[in-house]
Amino acid sequence: MKYLKLALIAATAAIFIAACGQAANTPVVNNTAPKANQNAATPAPVAEVASGQELYAKNCMICHKDTGKGGKVTIEGKSIDPDDITTAKMKEKADEKFVGYINDGFPDDGMPAFKDKLTADQVKAIIKHIRTLQGS
Ligand code: HEC
Repeated sequence: MKYLKLALIAATAAIFIAACGQAANTPVVNNTAPKANQNAATPAPVAEVASGQELYAKNCMICHKDTGKGGKVTIEGKSIDPDDITTAKMKEKADEKFVGYINDGFPDDGMPAFKDKLTADQVKAIIKHIRTLQGS
């Protein structure tokens, strides 16, 4: 039940993020006179940088919980034991270490690699959020 609730929160966060993205993409009404290049492809809007908290909720919370304390979970029938990433030991680790953990994951222990899913900036934002979970 707890897991279901977490999944629901994650889903809601995903919808929320999607909704925000859509709002940002809504074309702005243009009252100025038509320009010659009106039909030229307009550059895609700069993707909104989702907050570290949202990115954490979407990518990490299912395993490390909203608090970062982790604990045993069963995902896709597999029982795994995500680490507490808020311990004093983790707090002391440099950001670069976290970048490595996130990019490479721990595939043998159930944590996927994120290097193809998250940009360097997104990883940075997530680490910033983890620092707040660590209380620093
Ligand atoms: C599917 C579950 C899962 C997801 C999703 C996941 N992790 Fe993990 N994570 C784990 C597991 C399991 C371990 C423990 C690996 C081990 O014991 O070697 C771990 C370990 C870690 C560690 C190392 C902790 C240590 O003690 O060295 C960090 C940091 C970490 N995860 C951060 C993240 C972040 C940030 C995200 C999101 C971008 C994330 N994880 C997503 C399961 C997950």
